[in-house]
Amino acid sequence: MDRQTELKMEAAKAALKYIQDDEIIGIGTGSTVNCFIELLKEHTHRIKAAVSSSVASTERLKAIGIEVIDLNDAHDIPVYVDGADESNHQLQLIKGGGGALSREKIIAAAAQKFVCIADESKYVETLGEFPLPIEVLPMARSYVARQIVKLGGDPCYRTGFVTDNGNVILDVHSLEITQPKILEAEINQITGVVTNGLFAQRPADHLILATENGIKEF
Ligand code: 5RP
Repeated sequence: MDRQTELKMEAAKAALKYIQDDEIIGIGTGSTVNCFIELLKEHTHRIKAAVSSSVASTERLKAIGIEVIDLNDAHDIPVYVDGADESNHQLQLIKGGGGALSREKIIAAAAQKFVCIADESKYVETLGEFPLPIEVLPMARSYVARQIVKLGGDPCYRTGFVTDNGNVILDVHSLEITQPKILEAEINQITGVVTNGLFAQRPADHLILATENGIKEF
């Protein structure tokens, strides 16, 4: 296991304390969440069911014996655990490196508490060095890309990738995101956008950051 994966595992381990017995848990997507799912093997008896943000996470959860239910059947989600591509000190995030941003945003919105787990490389002063993913309806790709250029971004079509919702992703480079809430709303206004990977209007409630000096919680 390389050092970054060890740190992801440490962040995942620190999130276990947020599991609430006999409740539905929200599960995100990505390599850090995969570490968390790995650790859940020892806690399956405590979990009523999960709602999942991707086909990939659903398969992993089912493989360890956790029932995955539709979000529409989940009345209460006390905790949602997910990773991030970047976080600032306000726990506003860029997500969607794995392309699951829309389902992630829906579960984050529905959950009472959003616990973000990450290694220290994800903690940044200003969001935007990581290209901002936008999920777009396929027929709107070029139109949306032109609107993004007007906002100062440099959109790049994620070729060969289709989201679990059957859409495409534009990864937007060259954005220095000083006003995340405003940009999140502005991009979501563009016709054809499903959602963008800024989690600023609904940031994380807790950030567990695994660093070389131990776990830091924000
Ligand atoms: C997937 C995501 C992930 O949370 C994000 O990309 C971080 O992934 P990883 O844990 O592999 O670094 O938003 O859509």
